[in-house]
Amino acid sequence: MAALKYAGMDDTDSEDELPPGWEERSTKDGWLYYANHEEMKTQWEHPKTGKKKRCAGDLPYGWEQETDAKGQIFYVDHINKRKTYFDPRQAFTVEDVQVKPKRYDGNTPALEILQGHDLSDKVIIITGGNSGIGFETARSFALHGAHVILACRNKARSSKAVNRILEEWHKARVEAMTLDLASLRSVREFAEAFKAKKLPLHILVCNAAVCTQPWRLTEDGLESTFQICHLGHFYLVQLLQNVLGRSAPARVVVLSSESHRFTDLLDSCGKMDLTLLSPSQKEYWSMLAYNRAKLCNILFSNELNRRLSPHGVTSNAVHPGNMMYTSIHRSWWLMTFLFNLARPFTKSMQQGAATTVYCAVAPELEGLGGMYFNNCFRCVPSAQAQDPSSALSLWELSERLVQERSGGPQAL
Ligand SMILES: NC(=O)c1ccc[n+]([C@@H]2O[C@H](COP(=O)([O-])OP(=O)(O)OC[C@H]3O[C@@H](n4cnc5c(N)ncnc54)[C@H](OP(=O)(O)O)[C@@H]3O)[C@@H](O)[C@H]2O)c1
Repeated sequence: MAALKYAGMDDTDSEDELPPGWEERSTKDGWLYYANHEEMKTQWEHPKTGKKKRCAGDLPYGWEQETDAKGQIFYVDHINKRKTYFDPRQAFTVEDVQVKPKRYDGNTPALEILQGHDLSDKVIIITGGNSGIGFETARSFALHGAHVILACRNKARSSKAVNRILEEWHKARVEAMTLDLASLRSVREFAEAFKAKKLPLHILVCNAAVCTQPWRLTEDGLESTFQICHLGHFYLVQLLQNVLGRSAPARVVVLSSESHRFTDLLDSCGKMDLTLLSPSQKEYWSMLAYNRAKLCNILFSNELNRRLSPHGVTSNAVHPGNMMYTSIHRSWWLMTFLFNLARPFTKSMQQGAATTVYCAVAPELEGLGGMYFNNCFRCVPSAQAQDPSSALSLWELSERLVQERSGGPQAL
């Protein structure tokens, strides 16, 4: 017996045998319960195993469920012209196992979260999907069958990324499209080109960013970190919101960072200030510009969720991990030095992509948004990131900027 237990073969039908005096019955909707005739009591749990069970599937062909004068359910087999109080489905019962959502953490690779997920009916756009965390996110989705679009500014780099995924799995449905978030014109052209494909859009990952760049104005006259990290994504979502709505349930995931905690966006009067978001060269400090843009990411995600979740489109923001060795450090030698020092202790790219992937597919997050995740756990962002009026002010300011500078109405 011990050997059978060791081999996992001791789980036989005999354990389902009822002790004397017990009877197995079923409710109208197929749940089994157990009646003890001696003690005149009933219970849901099997008296020996403690398991709850229910009947699987429909009644066999020709059978019907009816209720007698005392209210007891019986079954009629019309083909063989007989009646019984025994539910014929009791021969095929299944255990009532409560499937709890699996817990993931900072060590979980993205591909582990996707285990068992078939994404072949999903269309996913990832901005900046040609490198770092965006690439690993795109690769993970593509290996699970999704149609993945890398929205990237550089054709050579994005084609290389597409080829890397195809080399791994030649059937992957992955393509690159041009999107430069530093140009509202390019964002509009991307949205038009995407809409021309007449595809749905189930997941949009706003991943692209730059960090510690020298001060530069975009062609729209705004500081480039702010426009690339926030305003370009804001405009992109505005242009694609109808497609997202038609594809609902749809999810947006916005990549932020824990560095959002080291700043705020309000002026001395407590108002959202454009000169803080898009400062002049004299007022510019590249790290602060990045932190502010990352705070914008959470505020944007929250307000987006508030507006679109009633239409089946939810949005969550994520921190992917600390100082992962991607290309993000490349604009400043000091950052490159620090990232090199931290490299042995930071997450792998697969672990860096995990929180984004989790927010994009976790069934327990269906219909839920307006949250901030780190290491696949919901966590509390800074006080300003939680402030609904800051989120609304940023939204209204962004709407104004897009309207003034894109030279036309936002919605296509
Ligand atoms: N690495 C970390 O430790 C870390 C920590 C916290 C948060 N994050 C966040 O994670 C996200 C991904 O960053 P990463 O570390 O993977 O960095 P990355 O390797 O530098 O990836 C950034 C991506 O954004 C793209 N991009 C930059 N400017 C663009 C523009 N104007 N238009 C379109 N795409 C543009 C880049 O394209 P090119 O290749 O053409 O430059 C690149 O593909 C970012 O939102 C970042 O803030 C990263």
